[in-house]
Amino acid sequence: VNQSIGRHSRDRVMSCEKGDRDPMEDPLFILESGEVYRNPTEVKMSQIVMPCHANHCGELSVGQLLKWMDSTACLSAERHAGSPCITASVDDIHFEHTIGVGQVVNIKAKVNRAFTSSMEVGITVSCEDLFSSCQWNVCNAFATFVARRTEEGKVRLKQVIPRTQTEQMEYSIAAERRRMRLTHAEIITDLLSKCQEYQGAVSAERTRVESVELVLPPHANHQVSTFGGQIMAWMENVATIAACRLCNAHPTLRTIDMFHFRGPSHIGDRLVLKAIVNNAFKHSMEVGVCAEAYQGAGALRHINSAFMTFEVLDKDRKPRTLPRIRPEPVDGKRRYQEAIARKKIRLDRKYIISCKQTEVPLSVPWDISNQMYLSYNNVSALKMMAARSNWMLSSEKNKVRLYTLEENQILCFKVETHVTVPAEQAFHLLSDLRRRHEWDRHYQWADEDDTIYRVATPCVSKGGKGQDFILLASRRKPCDSRDPYLIALRSVTLPTHPATEDYTRGEVLCAGFSIWEESNAVTKISYYNQATPGVLPYISNDIAGLSSSFYGTFYSCNKYLEENRDSLAILPPSDL
Ligand code: COA
Ligand code: ADP
Repeated sequence: VNQSIGRHSRDRVMSCEKGDRDPMEDPLFILESGEVYRNPTEVKMSQIVMPCHANHCGELSVGQLLKWMDSTACLSAERHAGSPCITASVDDIHFEHTIGVGQVVNIKAKVNRAFTSSMEVGITVSCEDLFSSCQWNVCNAFATFVARRTEEGKVRLKQVIPRTQTEQMEYSIAAERRRMRLTHAEIITDLLSKCQEYQGAVSAERTRVESVELVLPPHANHQVSTFGGQIMAWMENVATIAACRLCNAHPTLRTIDMFHFRGPSHIGDRLVLKAIVNNAFKHSMEVGVCAEAYQGAGALRHINSAFMTFEVLDKDRKPRTLPRIRPEPVDGKRRYQEAIARKKIRLDRKYIISCKQTEVPLSVPWDISNQMYLSYNNVSALKMMAARSNWMLSSEKNKVRLYTLEENQILCFKVETHVTVPAEQAFHLLSDLRRRHEWDRHYQWADEDDTIYRVATPCVSKGGKGQDFILLASRRKPCDSRDPYLIALRSVTLPTHPATEDYTRGEVLCAGFSIWEESNAVTKISYYNQATPGVLPYISNDIAGLSSSFYGTFYSCNKYLEENRDSLAILPPSDL
């Protein structure tokens, strides 16, 4: 029995309009020829959910959905690459809704960015009720596909050229997601905590499942290797059985952690799928699954490992309390601890990344386990602000231009200037917040913890208090010539640096620099800031007529950069 995807609720209806367009997409982009632009790598799949695709509850099984998602994404990757591609990994997926028999699943995939031989493919899944024309968003996922090596070696893919604002944003943030993907495994090791009580708990051994599958032609793709989606579906199947064994009920799959395909599998392989409950928390459990392949008397090859989080819902669809688990010695105990670490990471991710930006508290507590997500959030927020196309030029003075963007009662501003300093040198100089007071009289560097800085601004009114900020600085060098250097800043909280009486603690939601190389000697610098009450003193009284504070500051900034053009700039301690 396969597992259904998440809770079925009608509270988040995407649209009830007829037609193919998602109302949340960019406005139509008309080409010079008069045609409506369509991303050349976009591939769509629509399927009516039949009883053969469903589980015991009449809902589409996750396994079937993963197969469709993998095929659509693979075809999109191949459209860009022009050659056969394989699934390298699929990022965490969180399912928002179930899909019932008789409803239609619409899957859309497009290549967000190509790196060297790998590409990020963005996949959106929605569900459509044909009778009411209503659509729901089911999940968004990101998969990495790699162009298969040829006899000449590794393939070099052509670059993706983003055309619309959404494409530009996805393109830019794809680089940050890739960075997160490739460092994911290292974070776990930092997180393992100490011993637990296992009294009165269910033996994990009771949940162990082992199942074999023979890879036949229908399980393979056009390149005769096993479909990644098929392997994911088999893995989800054994994970569901392990979860059932703990709770003696039908569990609901909530989240799948990143899938990484370590090696290929082909027709004729025997795939051994093993699953066990690694840990059970109050309302959720983590099931680990491992897929290994062999042919004949050959050795087992590790193909994939994944971690899935299940809940058990009662008749009111509230999560039931689950029994605790007693792990097996050695590996079992290690996995039990690792599951705790992964749960923490998942929660951090949900808290920092998945929330709408306006729902994220301004200052998030920083610790070693969430630094990856905080950095991601920091960089992607700045990239999203920079990619907006509706900036309005407010004023210009001494070649410093001030732009503003007002939307949903949020005011953002951008200050842009050119300097005759090479981009990399400007990046190093601006990265070092310890030196910012040299050009910005509002900042006084106080002390430093890794790349978290405390900066203080003197008071702006007579007799008032100054403000201080605890800022996380995330620095990024460009991936290729289409990226700028980036320095993103956001507030965090640190237990070692609580607010003091002498200063009002200010908060920065999103700020930073993007630094574009215009030529070997000339660099364009844009400073962005999303205004919060703490930033308003900066903007002085009226933004349109403003000429005082900003221009003075950026004039000093230019001077500082040009004076230090030849100084040996050393990047401050490594970025987070
Ligand atoms: N997530 C995302 N991308 C990854 C990755 C991961 N976990 N591991 C590697 N990559 C990317 C690399 O960043 C690199 O990208 P780039 O060329 O754009 O810089 C690309 O994969 C190739 O990396 P390389 O170091 O040349 O090869 P590798 O030895 O790491 O192999 C795979 C990577 C994916 C090719 C290899 O693990 C594989 O063949 N896996 C099986 C894939 C498969 O058969 N899938 C279908 C299901 S069976
Ligand atoms: P790790 O042991 O580091 O978690 P593996 O790739 O070995 O990584 O396994 C992934 C998951 O698959 C494990 O966490 C476990 O839940 C499950 N698993 C691995 N081996 C077995 C097995 N022999 N029997 C049942 N489940 C297994």
